[in-house]
Amino acid sequence: MNVGVLTGGGDCPGLNAVIRAIVYKGIKNYKYNIYGIYEGWKGLLEGGPIVPLAIDDVVNILDEGGTILKTSRTNPFTHTSGIDKIKKTIERYKLDAIIAIGGEDTLGVAAKLHQEGIKIVGVPKTIDNDVSGTDRTFGFDTAVSCATDAIDRVRSTAEAHNRVVIVEVMGREAGWIALTSGIAGGANMILVPEYPVDIEDVVKQIIVRHTHGEQFSVIVVAEGAKLKRKRADSKLVMLDQGKDEFGHVRLGGIANQLSAIIYEKTGFECRTVILGHIQRGGTPTAFDRVLSTRYGIHAIDLIRRKQYGKMTALRGTKIIGTPLVDAMKTVKTIDKDFYAIAEVFFG
Ligand code: F6P
Repeated sequence: MNVGVLTGGGDCPGLNAVIRAIVYKGIKNYKYNIYGIYEGWKGLLEGGPIVPLAIDDVVNILDEGGTILKTSRTNPFTHTSGIDKIKKTIERYKLDAIIAIGGEDTLGVAAKLHQEGIKIVGVPKTIDNDVSGTDRTFGFDTAVSCATDAIDRVRSTAEAHNRVVIVEVMGREAGWIALTSGIAGGANMILVPEYPVDIEDVVKQIIVRHTHGEQFSVIVVAEGAKLKRKRADSKLVMLDQGKDEFGHVRLGGIANQLSAIIYEKTGFECRTVILGHIQRGGTPTAFDRVLSTRYGIHAIDLIRRKQYGKMTALRGTKIIGTPLVDAMKTVKTIDKDFYAIAEVFFG
């Protein structure tokens, strides 16, 4: 049995731990040949590189960030004859099955390829934690711990200078990182895409806090957060770098926009921290190393049991296989109850 493994979309801590687990169990327990497909769907589309992976190749990668297989945001469905090219590569390398490790874009492609007759299973990754069908994606815990550390650090300097510090974290359509790290870091306000706020309310709460309580504030904002009332300057802030192959605009910089509005309306000194790719790099937390390892083991077990068209998922404390098509129907967003917990501490 020849199994190809690829990592697609934005990287995240834990990818290497998944690859390691697949290689170990695939070779040791099932005597499979495991092949690494480079740069996600691009590797299959362009016919390689695709190289055999041995235990020696993965023995020391458990704690390494990034991915030894590299990654790309290539969408084969936007390329002419993309599916035929993928099928040809699979045939040429005699791959019997594929394990795709990725977020909603990569797994969305996996679901469609399965419908095209390709034997495929998925593993959900992303620091954003927005893949449906699973309680957790790996990488999220590491990003939250990085963001919480950043919030803790800016709080002391914000307090020392009586400033408003706005920390911008990733989260395009879902504010999981902002909300979780904001709660953990005791943020005074958290702005997420799911629950647009009125900028006037944000300003009001900060004024009240600075007049009758503390003279500093820490605001956490997800890069995809939206403001309720339309102002000329309240659009999402986008980097002028076009769209990726899945049609996503590149976000970044909403903290600067908020900072300008808050300063204009309150006169309070503001500073911004855009965490950016710092939260996506580096070594995975112990939680993510274990979750990634469990996902990798379960993925190769799904192949063994011929459970194609499924992805690994965490439900409570158990790892299960769930249909990819179901998981791809919606983005997993924050529920109101969780947001309400954070709201208690706003202002
Ligand atoms: O992978 C998800 C993500 O981290 C999003 O939170 C973010 O908007 C995006 O990737 C950034 O992508 P890139 O690394 O391509 O700029």
